[in-house]
Amino acid sequence: MRILFVVSEAYPLIKTGGLADVAGALPAALAECGEDIRILLPAYPEALERASERQRPISVGDPLGTGETWLVPARMPDSGVPIWLVKNAVFDRPGGPYVDDHGVAWRDNHLRFGLFCRVAALVTIAGGFLGWRPDVVHCNDWQAGMLPAYLRRWSGPITPSLFTIHNLQYQGNFDPWVLTSLALSPNLYNVAGVEFYGRVSFMKAGIQFSRKVTAVSPTYAREIQTPELGMGFHGLLGARATDLHGILNGVDYRVWDPAADRLIAAPYSPERLAGKAKCKAALQQELGLAQNPAAPLVGMVTRMNGEKGLDLLIDALPRIMDQGVQLAVLGSGDAYYEHVFTAAAASKSGRMAARIGFDEGLAHRLQAGCDMLLMPSRFEPCGLTQLYALKYGTVPVVRHTGGLADTVIDAGDPDRGTGIVFGPADPEALIEAVRRGVTLFENKTEWRKVQRRGMSEDFSWIRSARSYSALYRDIV
Ligand code: ADP
Ligand code: GLC
Repeated sequence: MRILFVVSEAYPLIKTGGLADVAGALPAALAECGEDIRILLPAYPEALERASERQRPISVGDPLGTGETWLVPARMPDSGVPIWLVKNAVFDRPGGPYVDDHGVAWRDNHLRFGLFCRVAALVTIAGGFLGWRPDVVHCNDWQAGMLPAYLRRWSGPITPSLFTIHNLQYQGNFDPWVLTSLALSPNLYNVAGVEFYGRVSFMKAGIQFSRKVTAVSPTYAREIQTPELGMGFHGLLGARATDLHGILNGVDYRVWDPAADRLIAAPYSPERLAGKAKCKAALQQELGLAQNPAAPLVGMVTRMNGEKGLDLLIDALPRIMDQGVQLAVLGSGDAYYEHVFTAAAASKSGRMAARIGFDEGLAHRLQAGCDMLLMPSRFEPCGLTQLYALKYGTVPVVRHTGGLADTVIDAGDPDRGTGIVFGPADPEALIEAVRRGVTLFENKTEWRKVQRRGMSEDFSWIRSARSYSALYRDIV
């Protein structure tokens, strides 16, 4: 089956979070299952530069008045999956895919991702001149949400779409007047269309007009039908419950495997854990932490914003540090959190380190060098870092929410435990969870069991890829 996978970031071309990891790995897994899949991605400068086997651009005209637009055929560097990069002046600028260098959303994001969706729609009807027309489009998050709305404009048969919610918090909501600049009918502006609390919502368009909707874990698929985590969409999602499926993300073990990871100080595996101790020592040295193998080293690799539960950690920090742990944080995002963690680390020299920025290599070294990985998320659609932690023998300490609840089993279960799971979103519960982690760490026999069990879990993509394949067939 021919699938167009429409997504706004894809590792290793461009990455701000887990969406990129999914887009780097899932299409490759689907290709291995025999699907004829192509990725559509905006041609940000670094993405264009990193893509392999770039071919001559194909013009698609000027669909939204932002200047001439091209499709640049290329391939993903590692997997070789074919990709089309959408090249236009709106993507050709320094800064992030969604925000500028100051972290402020690009003012023309409606146009940028409107154009992206419009071009995707053109691919479905202009298959003739491209020599390839998809049977189904797979739209990811709000940036691809308007695609099904564009598809409805054509009078011919409509290519069916699957919409995947990676994070319902980012909704792509804009003023109603944008519909005109997106060349969409103002008639769409109603409750049964793309209107959402007085705005035009790309996320709503995706949910409303796709044949099927998926969320990235079974628990999150249920949670978003509740007022607490539905972010205003619980009614609509509840109404579409029979079309809403939770499919758990997987791990690309070609990228995340301590036995083969060239970014870490020493390789290791469940049978040969000595390398992990070397990784810990190297990380302590790199981050200026005391060279103490006996101190439990707790890490975080995270976008720094409210959903990740960083406020809980800030409140809990003094009492967590009192437990004799070392803390290593890598992240970037809200200036407030960047500042608080930098200041906290400065006052706890040798015991706490904070690195602000996006650093793929350090993310691997942290996963390898830490004893525990903290994820006190207030909500977590799936979460990939806890899955990487499991593989790296770094015991995850997580809140019981979303994909965290689906992937980590509390060590209270003597036969199956792989981590520490806590319930309430409050600092006391987090402190207690870390305390349980430290106690476990001190009991080396039990610790090794939990560690090894986590390392032998298998979250490879193949199972999820099969679920997506089945859904594509259902839809078509
Ligand atoms: P989310 O997509 O919500 O950010 P995930 O756990 O699904 O959360 O995925 C996060 C991904 O981004 C992981 O690959 C993680 O290693 C990476 N990541 C997050 N912050 C950073 C950072 N500051 N530097 C490097 N990698 C990071
Ligand atoms: C989002 C979610 C995260 C998920 C990722 C990939 O960024 O916040 O939980 O793992 O998408 O689906």
